[in-house]
Formats: sequence, C-alpha cells, structure tokens
Amino acid sequence: MKGLVLSGGKGTRLRPITHTSAKQLVPVANKPILFYGLEAIAKSDIKEVGIVVGDTKNEIKSAVGDGSKFGLKITYIEQEAPLGLAHAVKISQDFLKDDDFVMYLGDNLIKDGIKTFVDKFREKKPNSQILLAKVPNPQQFGVAELKDGKVINLVEKPKQPKSDLALVGVYMFDKNIFEAVNNIKPSLRGELEITDAIQYLVNKKYNVLPHVITGWWKDTGKLEDMLEANRIILDTLEAENLGKVENSSMEGKVVLQKNSEIKNSTIRGPVIIGENCKIVNSYIGPFTSVYFNTIVENSEIEHSIVLENSKIKDVKRIEDSLIGQNVEILRSEKKPHAYRIMVGDSSRIEIA
Ligand code: DAU
Repeated sequence: MKGLVLSGGKGTRLRPITHTSAKQLVPVANKPILFYGLEAIAKSDIKEVGIVVGDTKNEIKSAVGDGSKFGLKITYIEQEAPLGLAHAVKISQDFLKDDDFVMYLGDNLIKDGIKTFVDKFREKKPNSQILLAKVPNPQQFGVAELKDGKVINLVEKPKQPKSDLALVGVYMFDKNIFEAVNNIKPSLRGELEITDAIQYLVNKKYNVLPHVITGWWKDTGKLEDMLEANRIILDTLEAENLGKVENSSMEGKVVLQKNSEIKNSTIRGPVIIGENCKIVNSYIGPFTSVYFNTIVENSEIEHSIVLENSKIKDVKRIEDSLIGQNVEILRSEKKPHAYRIMVGDSSRIEIA
C-alpha cells in the first residue's frame, strides 16, 4: 500500500500567513501539521509516499526532504494548479500504479493516527474506505448520507446538508478510483472533487465502506481550528526542560527546547517554547506555542501560536492569536501616540 499526501492548494483561509508560506507547514505545538500526517502514515506500515505539491513546492521539499527522517521514501508530484483533490489523484497515477493507497490531506490532523483504519481497509478489502465524523457545521465539508450503514449520497459543501457526517481528509482507495477520477466533470467551483469521484464509485456499485470516527480530528484550514489543534496537541506533551531558566516560575506542562532562556517570567503550561527563544519579564499562558528564534519581552501572551524569528516587546497582553514569521510587535513612545502598523494583505488586528 502507498500513501498520497496532498500539500498543494492555496490556503486562502489562513491568509496572510499563507501568502508567503505553505499552510501545511504552519506548526502545531511546534511541529508542522504536515509532519503529523507523515508520521501517521509511517506508523501504518506504509513506506512509499507521494506528496502532491503546488506553488509552495520548494518550501515543502526543504522541510520534508527525501522522507528518511520519517522512515518514508518520498516522491514529489507537481500539480500545475489546485484543480481539485480528484485532479491530484489523477496526476498521481504514474506513481500509484495499481497499488491500494491512503490519501491524506496535508492540513488534516487526526489525534490518534490512522493505523486502525488502514488495517481495517487491508483486512476488509473494499474498493474504498471513507472516514466520517459528526460535525456541527457540515456545510463546510463534504457530507455523506448513510442508509443501513451504506453510503448512498455524497455532496461537497452542501447548502442544506442531509446529515451531520463530514468527510474526514483521509481516504483509502484501490485502483478503481482512476476510473472515477477520469469520468467526473469539474464542479461549479471548477475543481475535480474527490467527493464526486466517490459518488461515482457508489453509483457504479463499487464497495465504499464508511467508518464513523469518534476520536478528535481537525481540518486546520482556519485560525480557530489551528488554535484548537494546538490546544489538543499541547495537552499530550510531556514536560521537558532543555533550556535555561532564571528567577522564573514554570507551572504545569512546559516544554522548553534547546538554547532557550526564560528570565524573570511565569510560564504556565501547557506551553512549548522552541529553540533559541528568549522570554524576559513576561507571562506565557496556557496553550501557547512559540516556535524558534523568537523574543518575548515585558509582555503577556496566552492561547496563541507565535512563529519563528519574531519579536514581541512591551505588549500588555496577546490572546487567541497566530503571529507569523519575522513579525515585530512593539510599544513605541514616539509622539504623537498612535498605532503605527505595517501589516500584510488579508490580515486582521483587533485592538482593545
Ligand atoms: O478536511 C476535510 C475536507 O477536505 C472534506 O470534508 C472535503 O470533502 C474535501 O473537499 C476537503 O475540503 P477543503 O475545502 O478543506 O479542501 P482544501 O481545498 O483545503 O484542500 C485540502 C488539502 O489538499 C490541502 O492540504 C490542500 C491540498 N490540495 C487541494 C486542492 C484543491 C491540493 O494539494 N491540490 C488541490 O488541487
């Protein structure tokens, strides 16, 4: 069995972060989301993985490399434009050949991994296995309708969903999926939808096995989802201190990575602070991840993700935020007193 990981696309809902970098590489608890997927695939005893890449291919390639650090052999498959999930399957046929495969959307996170589902697929040998999860907002997903435990209908982002069962971004297929992706037409949004391809399999009486999952799963396309994922994963970490702590209080589960320094501060876990960070005269509150080379001084921050090479200084309090790479948030005494802002396209700033 092979793996196919989708890591192209646009990431419009995470702009401006994704203007300059791949949404699949935004870190959750200081690890790129994509890496959780690759690790889950490796744990399912799959070795050969194709990664579909688009505009951000260089960034993805330099983060993942040849896959050896995950115990995988990676082949990169270039998609000329994000023309849909089924299009991604179509262009991967040379790589997948006639093998069964698991397709994993690179922005999805499943806390308990996928081994049990992959094993069930191997054992039951359906033509496809889809994972479904009950959600409060099915309009934002592909939605499945089941009857007597069988899939009868699948619709991509329906205005009036027939059920609350969303398609999770992990699918298993045998070679018959190519017949489907080669026979469907682009949807109204101009994409070849995997949802339509699976409906094709259902219509042609192929065996599509639904599996309703109960564990935690997230499509991390939006800020709130990223923060929730960060909360869930931080909670699973074990405290560890590889840095230097001076005159500070470390409460609860705190992970402090190499060469970082905490001085005159309170860190209340679960929190992770990456390599080469400096936290001085500050408070870092629960559910915060600070990536590497970042400085926080005379500031408070809670329930947030801060990326690398950023600087936060003299800021009263930041909450519920995603702060990008190389960002500076500073207080200025310059007169007149004013907000002086240089902020990217599609950004959002809430001022108290
Ligand atoms: O997360 C689950 C949902 O994922 C499903 O419920 C939907 O049925 C499915 O269509 C998909 O919806 P999204 O709108 O969330 O898909 P998105 O455009 O975010 O793409 C998912 C991943 O696939 C993302 O990592 C980008 C990548 N991608 C996407 C497209 C359209 C590609 O690599 N190539 C593409 O052409």
